[in-house]
This record gives sequence, C-alpha cells and structure tokens, in this order.
Amino acid sequence: MTSSRNGPRPPDLRVSLVGIELKNPIIAASGTFGYGVEFEDVVHLDKLGGIVVKGLSKVPMAGNPPPRLYETAAGMLNAVGLQNIGARAFIEEKLPRLRRLKQLVVIANVFGYTREDYEYTIEILNDGEGIAAYELNVSCPNTSSGGLQFGCDPRSLDEVVSTARHCSNRPLIVKLSPNVTSIAHMARVAEEAGADAISLVNTFLAMAVDAETRRPRISNVTAGLSGPAIKPIALRMVYDVSKAVNIPVIGMGGIATAADVIEFMLAGATAVQVGTASYWDPCATEKIVSDVEQWCVEHKVDQIASLTGAMIVD
Ligand SMILES: Cc1cc2nc3c(=O)[nH]c(=O)nc-3n(C[C@H](O)[C@H](O)[C@H](O)COP(=O)(O)O)c2cc1C
Repeated sequence: MTSSRNGPRPPDLRVSLVGIELKNPIIAASGTFGYGVEFEDVVHLDKLGGIVVKGLSKVPMAGNPPPRLYETAAGMLNAVGLQNIGARAFIEEKLPRLRRLKQLVVIANVFGYTREDYEYTIEILNDGEGIAAYELNVSCPNTSSGGLQFGCDPRSLDEVVSTARHCSNRPLIVKLSPNVTSIAHMARVAEEAGADAISLVNTFLAMAVDAETRRPRISNVTAGLSGPAIKPIALRMVYDVSKAVNIPVIGMGGIATAADVIEFMLAGATAVQVGTASYWDPCATEKIVSDVEQWCVEHKVDQIASLTGAMIVD
C-alpha cells in the first residue's frame, strides 16, 4: 500500500466495464433490489458500484400467484414470474428519482417472450435518460420456438442478441442462463452476436415438495434456485466463460461476503452482482462494499481490478 503524508492511501476499487467506470465492482442484482428507489432509506445507494433494476417488459406484468418464494438449505427458490410495472412506467415513475442520485450507475434489465418483445422494450427504454446499459435476461421462454428458453438454444440466443444490438443505443450485457450443457459456448454465441459483456449466472431450475401435504412448495411447481447453495457452480461457470470470451464478465451466484467477491474476481469476473443476500439483509450490498475495501487494505491490494483472472493455478 502506497503511503502519503496523511497515512496509507485507500485501495482503488474502481473497475471499468463496457465503457462505464464503476466506483467499485459490487452491483445489486436484478429482481432482488426492486427499482433501487425502495432501498433508498436503508442503503447509501451512492456507495454501490451500480444497480440492476427488476426485469422490465413492454407491458406491466402481475407475475405468478403465491407462494412464490421458499427458503432452502443455503438458498432460496423463487418463481416471482417477472412481475414488473413495464418499461414505460419505469421511465416515467422510477427513473426521474434514480436520476437525482447522480453518482448511481443504473442498468436496466430487459426480458421478453419473443424477439419483438425485446426490440419493443429496448426502444421504449432508449428514450429514458440516466440508464447506463442494458442487461438482457435471456432466460424466458421463446414462444416462437415452442417454449425453449432463448438462453438455452444457441440459434435463438444469436437472434435475440443481434436484435437487441441492432436497436439498442447503449452497451449490452447479456445475462446467461446456467441451465445449459456448455455455458462457455453460449457466451461465445452472445459475444459474436454483439454483446459488450456477459453476466452470469441466473437462477438454476429447481423445485421443492412438502412431504406432509404432498404439494409443491411453489405454486408454479418449478422455480429458480439462488443463494450460497449455487456459489461453487456459478464460480466454475464464471471461470469457464471468462476463458472463452474476450469481453468482460460479471459474476454472480450466492455472493454474501467480501471473500466471495474476491473469489469471483480471481476466477475471471471484472465485476459482481449481489442478489439473494439482500433478502437476508437489505444492507448486504453496502456492507459488502466496505468489507471488500477492508479486505484490500488487509491484503495490501492497491487496485482491485488487478485481481480479475489472477487465480493461481499450479
Ligand atoms: C426473487 C428473485 C427475482 C429475480 N428476478 C430477476 C429478474 O427480474 N431478472 C434477472 O435477470 N434475474 C433475476 N433474478 C436472478 C438474480 O438476479 C441472480 O441472477 C440470481 O439470483 C443469482 O444470484 P444470487 O445467488 O446472488 O441471488 C432474480 C432472483 C431472485 C432471487
């Protein structure tokens, strides 16, 4: 650590991503941080590297009926069903409040059921001032291909990313589904179709059954698993993807501590997202930022960006 007259200089936590400078690599993950404004009273939003808002669609969606959340061993199942107010209402009702927080990097998460849905939603959002980038959630069923998820079929993924690239006036982050055989292959497809960065992982398809009632724990029967339970698999996938592409990788899946952040960076992530941890502690994101700074001080890391891909393999 370089010293100055006033004591050691604090570590440089800045990272650069798709042409945007983040003050630190910790971003709140989509669907676990509302539209950001709901957290204004509990988290100093300007301390975060950024936030990804809830998935936005071209029209408002009510989501699935309850129960839609269920806590499992070291994790959580959710089948919220992408409930949201729609892209237009986001621009009119939420974005002006977020814009007041000038230091906050806001990423809009976008999803659709058809290629045209993505196109339409991005075109609405293009008019919104104060969005730094789009994150494309490709884990939705592609109805025109008979219900396959865009993110599980290379051809559909190529089509949806190319479409989004064509109509987007902002950097494009493609968020991959882990429910595939080779996530590295899907990442390469997304890169070739024009992605500026890859984020991973979304939730793992899973379920829980109540032995007493013989009923599923979630009304939708199947759901997405997140939280510490998925961390080792997510970490392996981030490692695989970061070796396969030449664009930045944003890692997530079970991050709850400063050491988790460092592990994902060592495995190849430029930045990370924190999701389920915010359900257990609404202040988790901000707390992780200060713990990461402390970690860097204790480990004499001057620049956190130097950790990306720095895992030592003998
Ligand atoms: C309740 C809930 C809602 C989510 N909604 C979205 C969403 O709208 N769009 C999206 O891309 N990911 C969504 N996700 C996935 C998370 O952003 C993240 O990829 C996943 O939970 C893994 O990270 P974690 O283990 O830190 O939660 C959601 C996750 C949860 C738990």
